[in-house]
Order: sequence, then structure tokens, then C-alpha cells
Amino acid sequence: MARNKVTVIGAGNVGATTAQRIAEAGLADVVLVDIVEGLPQGKGLDLAEAAPVVSHDARIIGTNDYAETAGSDVIVVTSGLARQPGMSRDDLLMKNAGIVKAVVQASAAQSPDAVLIVVTNPLDAMCQVASAEAGFPRERVIGMAGVLDTARFRTFLAWELGVSVRDVTGFVLGGHGDQMVPVTSYTNVAGIPIADLIPAPRLAEIVQRTRDGGAEVVKLLKSGSAYYAPSASICEMVDSIVLDQKRVLPCAALLAGEYGLNGLYMGVPCRLGSGGLEEVIQIDLSAEERAELERSAAAVRELIAVMGL
Ligand SMILES: NC(=O)c1ccc[n+]([C@@H]2O[C@H](COP(=O)([O-])OP(=O)(O)OC[C@H]3O[C@@H](n4cnc5c(N)ncnc54)[C@H](O)[C@@H]3O)[C@@H](O)[C@H]2O)c1
Repeated sequence: MARNKVTVIGAGNVGATTAQRIAEAGLADVVLVDIVEGLPQGKGLDLAEAAPVVSHDARIIGTNDYAETAGSDVIVVTSGLARQPGMSRDDLLMKNAGIVKAVVQASAAQSPDAVLIVVTNPLDAMCQVASAEAGFPRERVIGMAGVLDTARFRTFLAWELGVSVRDVTGFVLGGHGDQMVPVTSYTNVAGIPIADLIPAPRLAEIVQRTRDGGAEVVKLLKSGSAYYAPSASICEMVDSIVLDQKRVLPCAALLAGEYGLNGLYMGVPCRLGSGGLEEVIQIDLSAEERAELERSAAAVRELIAVMGL
């Protein structure tokens, strides 16, 4: 049986750490791609040289040439720019849209059967760009955000209660970042509803910290943004796909009527298996949660309009 092959585009913080996690988990051979000459080659070589010590047999290479990515089972897109001083949100949107378009075009041509996982921000809008460019069915273009947002929510809840993070199930829907919709009615600790354990005002504070989770890390780091938790979240999605685990994970998916939304990427609970997105799972939402999801959808639609998609 052939080994799995995963291409990670963008050899920056998120991309390189993702490559490391995938290889060290023994999930697949990894091809790390970047536009900067030498960067993916150097990081790829460094990662490969760790293999005897951490004991895995995954082959890792770095390259600027998409021919090396041919036949990948999964393509992870992390390439993009961070917002620079003087750059407006719309400038960044257009720049990253251009990057995502170019890398998806080049990589999808080499791996027409791959599942694409988009990570570049603004996430939901970049998923839309990748989907349009790849021309793949919706099953094979998904975005990573919900696993990360949920992980942050679960971390803060576990700290609050002094319980294991493993026993906390969090539930976050909607767009990434401050547009996310934490669904507290589906959040529990070993099956016990969270509302029975944490008073509403304190829970609201934890929800707000989750919404601001990315910004909190950026503020501390001063330059750059989070990558350990993001790469762990990407790796969990890759794992479910390459090992056909059928995990139910919150992912950005192109909705086709689910949750009353159509033709738009939104974070929703998804079953992930070897075919990529195998099912969008629908849950009942309160009127307030539904309104929040609508607001989140409106924000994504605005970005799509700016991009002229
Ligand atoms: N979805 C999420 O939850 C989530 C979480 C964390 C980060 N992100 C996003 O992931 C992206 C990467 O973050 P990072 O911290 O790794 O940034 P980074 O700056 O460390 O790395 C980005 C890399 O992309 C490369 N790149 C730029 N243009 C390219 C092109 N045309 N082709 C190939 N490579 C190209 C750069 O050279 C750089 O190495 C950002 O957009 C960030 O906002 C998303």
C-alpha cells in the first residue's frame, strides 16, 4: 500500500509546525512548499534530520516546485501575508486571495483528487477563493478554524473547572475569530451541561476570551501569531482524513442549504473521512444562536463581495 502524501503550502510558522506534527505522528510523507527559495528546503531538511531521534520514517522534503507535490492525498494551504502597518483589511484580503488563488491553481493541477484544507486568513473568505479556483466538489475543500476555536474554548473551560481538557466538549460554529458562535447548550463536561457548572456571567467571559483567543496570543508575541494550537488543529483534521477516522469536527464547509445558508463557507460540525467532508451535521439552534450565525454569515458575504466572487 502506498504511503499517504500531504503537501503543506507555506513554510512559515503554521506550515512548518504542521509538517512536523504530521511527520512525527507518522501520518504521511510531507512536501513543504514556499515561494521563498531555500526556506522550505532548509526547514524540510532540518525536520528530516530529526526523524532518527524522534523515530519516524516519514519522508519530508521542502521545495519551490509544485511538480514534487504530485499525487498528494491532502493539501494544506497556510501561505499568506500577515497584516502589515498601513495595510487595510481589504488590502490584506485581496493580497491573500491572490496568493491562495495561485497556490491552489498550482497544487490542484498536480493532485486533482486531493482534499484541500484551507488555513490562510480571513479563513471563510479564503475557503471560498480556494473552492472557486480548485473546482473540486465541496467534499474536498474545507477550512480549519473551528477545531482551533473549540480547543481554545475547551482549554479555558477546563482551567475554570480544574478538570481534564479531555472531558470538555466544546461547540463553536460560524465564522472564524470574533464572528464565531460558541453554542453553550451543546458544550458539556463528561456529559454534564456547562450551564450546570459555570454561572452565566462567568461563562460569557470565557466565551469572550475564546472569541479574542487569536488576538490574545498576538498581543503577547508582539510579532507573528499563534501556530502551536493551529497546527495541532490542522493535524487532527489530516488524521481524520488519511486514517478515515470519521471524526466529528467543526470545520468551515460550503453550505448547501444546511442551517438555512447556501453557497457560503461557515464553520459547522462535519464528519471527516477519506473522502473529506462526508456529512454536515445539523443541530437545533436557539433563536439567538441562529441570529448570531446569520450575523457571522453576513460578515463573510461582505468579504466575498469585496473580492467580487
Ligand atoms: N485558520 C486559522 O485558524 C489560522 C490559525 C493561525 C494562522 N492562520 C493563518 O495562516 C496563515 C499563515 O500563518 P503563519 O503564522 O504561518 O505565517 P508566516 O508568515 O509565518 O508564513 C506564511 C508563509 O507563506 C509564504 N508564502 C507567501 N506567499 C506565498 C506563495 N505565493 N506561495 C507559497 N508560499 C507563500 C511565506 O513566504 C511564508 O513563509 C496566515 O494567513 C494566518 O492568518 C489561520
